[in-house]
Amino acid sequence: MTPWLKLTTLAALAGMAGLAHAQAKPPLKVGLMLPYTGTYASLGNMIENGFKLYVQEQGGKLAGREIQYFKVDDESEPSKGTDNVNKLIKRDQVDVLVGTVHSGVALAMAKAARENNTLLIIPNAGADAITGPMCAANIVRSSFSNWQPGYAMGIVAGQRGIKRAMTITWNYAAGAETVKGFTEGLEKGGGKVVKDLTLPFPNVEFQALLTEIAAQKPDAVYAFFAGGGAVKFVKDYAAAGLNKTIPLYGPGFLTDGTLEAQGSSAQGLLTTLHYADNLDTPRNNAFRKSFALTYKANADVYAVQGYDAAQLLAAGLAAAKGDLDKRDVITAAMRKTVVDSPRGKFSISPAGNPVQDMYLREAKGQNNEFKAVAVKALADPARGCKM
Ligand code: PHB
Repeated sequence: MTPWLKLTTLAALAGMAGLAHAQAKPPLKVGLMLPYTGTYASLGNMIENGFKLYVQEQGGKLAGREIQYFKVDDESEPSKGTDNVNKLIKRDQVDVLVGTVHSGVALAMAKAARENNTLLIIPNAGADAITGPMCAANIVRSSFSNWQPGYAMGIVAGQRGIKRAMTITWNYAAGAETVKGFTEGLEKGGGKVVKDLTLPFPNVEFQALLTEIAAQKPDAVYAFFAGGGAVKFVKDYAAAGLNKTIPLYGPGFLTDGTLEAQGSSAQGLLTTLHYADNLDTPRNNAFRKSFALTYKANADVYAVQGYDAAQLLAAGLAAAKGDLDKRDVITAAMRKTVVDSPRGKFSISPAGNPVQDMYLREAKGQNNEFKAVAVKALADPARGCKM
């Protein structure tokens, strides 16, 4: 072979190798940081299942890339948040972070995502600051801000003539912020909150606080609890007989994914949320059927948020043709997309939070049933976000 021929052969071989390389991009590494133990364990599992369901429906790939999962149980423990998220960022070198449920842990994740410029999609935690003062191009949420369902319930309570309300919740960011939203909505309708009660997360010793509610006799109680804690609170409220005299309201987390365990104690409860189980749309019906077939369980709001986190990622990746280096293209596309969610279509605000309808729901049997649109296309005020 002449030297020239040798060279051209080598060049051709190199070209072929390059082509093979271009065709087979390595898998996209997705880091799931969720609670798999503790009071929010079922929420974490539903989010993971929802996320994986969407990926499975796309043939296991997003924008042509296989998905490889890395998992960390964050235990809903804020003090371990930074160490846990660094396992995914530094040790596993994930391309995208998906998490978490607990606002305190999510704040640590958002800080790390900002410092390392890692893409972060939040499939639950509502911490207002994340799409407020801490907002960043590389962070988006597929769920809600804590302010959103709280504000909607405050508006509804005002419309129902509530003048004096009490609130009860866990003493951390999510509790404080949802109560703030509720208070703001209620005050618009001429009511006010006369007393806020709290207990440390994830405690469930409610008796002394229920005694105080009985003594104060407010027109209504607004409660934020979720997962295992919500099951216990709703049961204790009914066991104390309070459900007969003082209406119990809450963001939908109070009765979402929990109705079976709450039994008769939750029946008839009114809550506000961006999802209702029985939304009779082709999109929601197909989603619930697919979820039930795959997991032999009914979907809930957490499954929807996990599913939509995957949809957001898919929209970003599609715009960049699967190329993670095109970061600006990905983050812009995630804000431009209209997500065709089981909850109904929603868009993403410049701060990275869903702009979405808030529904009033009633717990009936195993479903949180749609009753009305409480607030249409509600956008979080994104106070303090500068981008
Ligand atoms: C939160 O910590 O932001 C949080 C946790 C559970 C929920 C909703 C919000 O169901």
